[in-house]
Amino acid sequence: MAAGLGTRMKSNLAKVLHRLDGRPLINHVCETSLTLRPSSINVIVGHQAEDVKRAVTTELGDAKFTFPLQKQQLGTGDAVNSGKKLLKDRDSVLLVLSGDVPMISSKTLKALIAKHRRSRATCTILTVELDDPTGYGRVIREGGDFSRIVEQKDASDEEKSCREINSGIYCFDTEKLFQALAKVGNTNAQGEYYLTDVPTIFKKKGDKIALFLHDDKHEIEGINDRRQLAAMEAELRDRTITRLMLESGVTFIDPSSAYVSAKAKIGRDTVIYQNVTIEGRSVIGEGCTIRPGTRIVNSTLLDGVDIRDNCFITDSEIGNGCAVGPMAHLRGHAVMEDGSKIGNFVELKKTRLGKKSKASHLTYLGDATIGENTNIGAGTITCNYDGKNKHETHIGNNVKIGSDTMLVAPITVGDGAATGAGSVVTKDIAPNKLAVGAPARAIRSLEKKQDK
Ligand code: UD1
Ligand code: MG
Repeated sequence: MAAGLGTRMKSNLAKVLHRLDGRPLINHVCETSLTLRPSSINVIVGHQAEDVKRAVTTELGDAKFTFPLQKQQLGTGDAVNSGKKLLKDRDSVLLVLSGDVPMISSKTLKALIAKHRRSRATCTILTVELDDPTGYGRVIREGGDFSRIVEQKDASDEEKSCREINSGIYCFDTEKLFQALAKVGNTNAQGEYYLTDVPTIFKKKGDKIALFLHDDKHEIEGINDRRQLAAMEAELRDRTITRLMLESGVTFIDPSSAYVSAKAKIGRDTVIYQNVTIEGRSVIGEGCTIRPGTRIVNSTLLDGVDIRDNCFITDSEIGNGCAVGPMAHLRGHAVMEDGSKIGNFVELKKTRLGKKSKASHLTYLGDATIGENTNIGAGTITCNYDGKNKHETHIGNNVKIGSDTMLVAPITVGDGAATGAGSVVTKDIAPNKLAVGAPARAIRSLEKKQDK
């Protein structure tokens, strides 16, 4: 179910598109669903339906998903009913998940389905006991068995004191579910068609309702407002960092100020300093050091990499034993081969820096390939953009580029060549040649641009 706006978020963005760990809430639920290998996954959409579809299919592909439309958001019962026509397989078990309960695990869902099958119930409800159940539907038992679910807004004071809550996650006998949904009314405090009324309808008919009381409350918490979203982000981060410390052998100097995505992998004896952010599917090897203030996004670092303070590294690869920063920037699939080094205020964009090559200070290398054992002097710039198009620079092995060299692309510098300080290089340099000089001179009039 992912059709609601999420009024309590006070947002223009549909609730299931709000991000946890950098990914839309709905993607967490859909990804977990995929691990169960179901015959189909029906994502009920409504508010910002196209955006929700795009979020899911962009990350997870479209092979398994269909997107029934709930035109008006008349409640969770109506939401599930919107999927009726598209749901072909009526003899199977239908697992209903809420788009705003993102931490639910594959393991718990498998156990829920197993219990549902074993107990031959018409419906099995996943529940948990909370110290503060405010806001959730309460699961009322009589003599230990299921009696009914009462929503917060419809509950008496006595019912509100019940701490066992409905997770919004259920297994149903598909055919019977749709028969019962036809009988659900909307005479309740919210004027909605509640899916939570269905188990009571079954019970009245004498069908069996099973309850699966889970012990991990964080898996079951729903996101209804921004405080809950922030609390879940903190909880997920804490779990990720604890796992990395205890299972992967990663040192965190200050775990409370490090942000690491649950999708990231970090190797043994890597040390992460304070205020470091590691996002997306980043992979960091063993024995690396990541100093304060650095942000790494969807990048791969091999072993023994030294990232100094305040670097920003995105969509890039860094080889064994490389050194980066302080204050360096890698982007657009930059690649540093083993043992290479970039220093302060160096930017690599869509550039490959060869083994043991160095650019130690104040340099922009864009759309370039640089060979092995080459030294790029301070202040070097690949002038890759002519105002319209980007052009490539190729620099060979064992090259020495002098300080403040401008390499006007497209250009090739041969193996073993060198440039003098302050050179403006506009023509290819042959291997083992030295090029120097910068005779700047007026060559033509510029077209005058009209002021707007
Ligand atoms: C629901 C349950 C409540 C449970 C809680 C667990 C009902 C009536 N209540 O309450 O018992 O404790 O979840 O988190 O089911 N949605 C639609 N279409 C609609 C309405 C909702 O697709 O017309 C979707 C929402 O986008 C959301 C999910 O269903 O992803 C749950 O809706 P929400 O309004 O958050 O229900 P809760 O009040 O949390
Ligand atoms: Mg909810």
